[in-house]
Amino acid sequence: MNGKPKVLITNRIPEEGMRIAEEHCEVKVFDYEGALPREVLLREVKGIDGIISLLTDKIDAEVMDAAGPQLKVVANYAVGFDNIDVEEATGRGIMVTNTPGVLTDTTADLAWALLLAAARRIVEGDKFVRQGKYKAWKPMLLLGTDVHHATLGVVGFGRVGRAVARRATGFDMRVIYYDVQRVSEELEREFNAEYKPLDQLLQEADFISIHLPLTKETRHLISERELKMMKKEAYLVNSARGPIVDEKALAKALKEGWIRGAGLDVFEHEPQVEPELLELDNVVLAPHLGSASYATRAKMATMAADNLVKALKGETPPNLVNPEVVKK
Ligand code: GLV
Ligand code: GLV
Repeated sequence: MNGKPKVLITNRIPEEGMRIAEEHCEVKVFDYEGALPREVLLREVKGIDGIISLLTDKIDAEVMDAAGPQLKVVANYAVGFDNIDVEEATGRGIMVTNTPGVLTDTTADLAWALLLAAARRIVEGDKFVRQGKYKAWKPMLLLGTDVHHATLGVVGFGRVGRAVARRATGFDMRVIYYDVQRVSEELEREFNAEYKPLDQLLQEADFISIHLPLTKETRHLISERELKMMKKEAYLVNSARGPIVDEKALAKALKEGWIRGAGLDVFEHEPQVEPELLELDNVVLAPHLGSASYATRAKMATMAADNLVKALKGETPPNLVNPEVVKK
């Protein structure tokens, strides 16, 4: 390689990461207000050795073709990497990395914020106050649902799911979980969580929080059938990936009272939101803020840039999601 490797950062990341990338690479970075338009990505990726991508950038065969055979690494600025065709990358010897661990607790906090906001009607209450409707304390004003001593159902018992479960202890909750694989008894004891098949969890939980990656198997895992199995007083929280929940079915469930409420940080067709949801008071909506704390976004930036630079130096980056690629 002559000179510094060329990298594309599809949207400016916190300074901590920019600095590392700029020290080692010739950096092209964009500051679009929205996501980087597809045609710009396809044009600007030409001749690039490494990419720092966001979860809103679809990195597929077309982008890899547009880049050229010198492309070595795609460092995603996210823990989830469903926006990247990893199999395609692996076939071409391209390393793919993510940012696990650093955002676990921050995302768990956000899931809890949504859960509590939905259960105790915080957003409705805020609107009520701002609209000048608060005239007096009233016995029946904005009654919600108790979180303490309720049953929390965690769907997906990875890092974030476990961190969400751990927080339930302070609320004296009973915790049940579902995942494709049951964890060890030791872990179940540590997190005070009991394994349940999904259908059973849906029927028993008062609050259900989703913490799965998006895959072919998890797409629409929660659809009409599953929503109908939930308790009428139950709440659904999704801070994982939008398409895991059938959003139209959820809107119907909230409108027709199959469940009591929901908290959503992610949507099926981000940044679009099912219009029916926007009309409903029993759902709290957030614009994909799971990892959005100053400290965590800075750590993610450092991590993504480190992954990128190590891969470009020919080393194995610490957060490689397709290790097969280095064995080739
Ligand atoms: C955020 O959704 C992430 O995957 O990091
Ligand atoms: C993601 O960090 C997960 O494993 O839950």
